Amino acid sequence: MVSKQELAQLRCIGCGSIAGNLAPNARCEQCGDLLEVVYAEWSKPGAVDAASLKALWLRRRTSFLPEDQSGVWRFRDVLPALREGNDPITLREGNTPVYELPSCARIAGVERLHAKHQGMNPTGSFKDTGMTTAASFARQEGFRWVACASTGNTSASMAAYAARGGMRSLVLIPDGKITWSKLSQSLDYGAVTCQLKTDFDGCMRVLNEVVKRMPVYLLNSVNPYRLEGQKTAAIELLEQFNWEVPDHIIVPGGNLANSSAIGKAVMELKNLGFINRLPKISVIQAEGANPLVRTVREKSGKELIAVTAETMASAIRIGNPASWKKAVHVLQATGGAVEQVTEVEIAQAKAEIGRDGIGCEPASAVTLAGLKKLVKQGFVKRGESVVLILTGHLLKDPEFTLKFHRGDLFTGTAEENQAAVLVPLQRSPIVLDASADAVVKTLESVEKGREN
Ligand code: F0G
Repeated sequence: MVSKQELAQLRCIGCGSIAGNLAPNARCEQCGDLLEVVYAEWSKPGAVDAASLKALWLRRRTSFLPEDQSGVWRFRDVLPALREGNDPITLREGNTPVYELPSCARIAGVERLHAKHQGMNPTGSFKDTGMTTAASFARQEGFRWVACASTGNTSASMAAYAARGGMRSLVLIPDGKITWSKLSQSLDYGAVTCQLKTDFDGCMRVLNEVVKRMPVYLLNSVNPYRLEGQKTAAIELLEQFNWEVPDHIIVPGGNLANSSAIGKAVMELKNLGFINRLPKISVIQAEGANPLVRTVREKSGKELIAVTAETMASAIRIGNPASWKKAVHVLQATGGAVEQVTEVEIAQAKAEIGRDGIGCEPASAVTLAGLKKLVKQGFVKRGESVVLILTGHLLKDPEFTLKFHRGDLFTGTAEENQAAVLVPLQRSPIVLDASADAVVKTLESVEKGREN
């Protein structure tokens, strides 16, 4: 039985040295590379009894304790432990549903397609699973301030967990490049929200300076405790599949922490005997924000090719991803693919996911768009089971959705001509006189297939 994750250590993925404490920039003080949490205890034979942990995790589902009701801390036996007397900051994150996507499956050409909807977390994105762990460690270390640079979801999540944990939060976001929904969340949760006249990568650069000068705890995903919480999406997914391993898990790629965390989870679960094979983990990026795609294709994953990022999927508008080495390792270790998709393909896939009654934000829809390509290439076979990780809720970006349905999304852009494929999916609102006649006429014409 594992009970001593206090023995969890922070190890550098570059030079292998062990860090005592987390440095202000959350990186290795020897070589500047990223850190990861490792569990020395696990190498001892019999340290982990997978069968009893599976049963214990299920039993915790019936408990009323906050740490059991959290879909992250329920798996605390494979997470770093807080010291005695430190409670986790939890909003009962995790516990997200797995849905079948029957019509998307038909469109993509696979028989078994599911979505793990991480947008059903408390602040509407997968970030909550990592924020509960990292914010709890920030509070344990006595920090009054936490901070992040963000494309909007990290900031919304961080602001919420900081508020719940009695800490102040500092948010750096690219001016005019995050959605109103995400901005409004961090305001409501009381964050000091600074809109910088730069992009996400520029915000990250500024924040790296700020953390050197002020005692703020960095909550971007360079923080290795974030990834430990984010691992639980994969653990929970496998539990929901009764520990039967899907053939493919497909993840959107931005700063590349989520793909890294999900990969770390499945590799750890296999090493510990929870599962007997690895799913292939594939990462999909927007064409205009494709540093991982280029890094793998042009440099065999050995050297990062940073890009100037541009995509309407603003959550993944990132050109210089921090966790690229971790993500390359996951691709190689699991045999996953990396692919890129166009803006029109993203918009189409998002509407198709909507038609299955699920919905998601644009960045999440790259998964379905990418799957279609991977099936065409023969990388994903028709009979294989596939899980898409949907990272954010539909309501995170209502402006995109409205423009899509009004047919304005690509007006005046280079993609205007390609956007014709979207017309059958568009449902613009119909303005009518306030009469039953008008509504009935509309219904009749829809039934006849003449309109909408
Ligand atoms: N999907 C959504 C909805 C996101 O918000 C993000 C990242 C990603 C996918 C990509 O995940 O960075 O781990 O590869 N959003 C960050 C933010 C960067 O600041 O909210 P990743």
